[in-house]
Amino acid sequence: MTILRGFLLLFFPFVFLYSSSAIAFSNNVVDLGAKPDGKSDSTKAFETAWANACGSTRPTSIYVPPGRYYLRSLTFNGPCKNNAIFIRIDGTLVAPSDYRVIGNSAAWILFRRVDGVTISGGVFDGKGSGLWACKNSTRTCPSGATTIEISNSKNVVLSALTSLNSQMFHIVVNGCQNIKMKGLVVLASGNSPNTDGIHVQLSSDVTILNSKIGTGDDCISIGPGTSSLWVENIVCGPGHGISIGSLAKDLEEAGVQNVTIKKALFSRTQNGVRIKAWGRPSNGFVKNILFQHIVMDNVQNPIVIDQNYCPSHKDCPGQASGVKISGVTYQDIHGTSATQIAVKFDCSPTNPCSGIKMEDVQLSYKDQIAGATCRHVGGTATGRVEPSSCL
Ligand SMILES: *[C@@H]1O[C@H](CO)[C@@H](O)[C@H](O)[C@H]1NC(C)=O
Ligand SMILES: *[C@@H]1O[C@H](CO)[C@@H](O)[C@H](O)[C@H]1NC(C)=O
Repeated sequence: MTILRGFLLLFFPFVFLYSSSAIAFSNNVVDLGAKPDGKSDSTKAFETAWANACGSTRPTSIYVPPGRYYLRSLTFNGPCKNNAIFIRIDGTLVAPSDYRVIGNSAAWILFRRVDGVTISGGVFDGKGSGLWACKNSTRTCPSGATTIEISNSKNVVLSALTSLNSQMFHIVVNGCQNIKMKGLVVLASGNSPNTDGIHVQLSSDVTILNSKIGTGDDCISIGPGTSSLWVENIVCGPGHGISIGSLAKDLEEAGVQNVTIKKALFSRTQNGVRIKAWGRPSNGFVKNILFQHIVMDNVQNPIVIDQNYCPSHKDCPGQASGVKISGVTYQDIHGTSATQIAVKFDCSPTNPCSGIKMEDVQLSYKDQIAGATCRHVGGTATGRVEPSSCL
């Protein structure tokens, strides 16, 4: 705790000052009727806090003191009358343990059309295990809520918050510009279905820094229409790795470009860095992607491009992916593969991958150099590349 305080004082003195005196905050949810007992429904108090903050013509704040707050689905709608709302959470937000209460909402906590919102701290406990068990049975289940969705918004910061056991995706950024996420911890059981850590789509200038993500699905998934995404210093596992895709779901589809994934550790994940497209027609594309300074620790498929994704062999057999993949660089990637094939490029016969660059890639399997397979791919290898490139 002392170390944490020292750290906060050094780097975020303003946060420390705010959190140490609730008086500095305009909207304390407890003053507005929230009960930090984990049982009483505090949804109304949070709605009131947001209505006050969003209606303020000056920069303002919301404060959530320590304690547990039971919340049903909440929407923080903009546009607001100011563009500087600071939400400091020292407590834990708790979803209903009966998954049906929020299971049919797209999101548990939704920010929509906001501009200039910072959310700092807090634990978001999605209580997803009931729904996971339902999905694992023969019962019919709701599809489940994303824990935090930021939709059609800009200039939003999520800092030092923890998301636990989401019903579905933990954090979704959709239709946004300039979103920063840093110091996040995202955790769900390795066998939980569709609990992706952070999903980004139709958004530009998104940054994800210094975060630890372990879930039952992708740590980070990057959907159509993502551009200028910067991801740095990520620990991923358990989970399915970092994935661009799935793409080619639709015929008309926005492309993915200018994505940097830098300094990441993948620990015992199903994939490391993956690009994945359905084997279906599409006008989508993937270009200017950099995967750099990455360590693989016993990863099943460290480097993958799969353009023949066709789960359940429905609606795709015999078709080729229309997505054009070009300009993908793998630089300084080291470590161990849990399977013999550490590098797998399986591109589209009608749209071969081009401009794939490998530089200083060394991956081993059982203390031997691992293997690589290539289909319909062109590019270059420089420096030491093991498995020797099949480009
Ligand atoms: C789903 O069931 C399988 C088989 O019984 C089990 O191994 C797995 O852990 C279960 N997953 C969840 C999320 O309960
Ligand atoms: C690429 O993305 C980075 C941020 O990730 C941004 O700084 C840079 O300007 C972008 N480049 C182009 C050409 O859009």
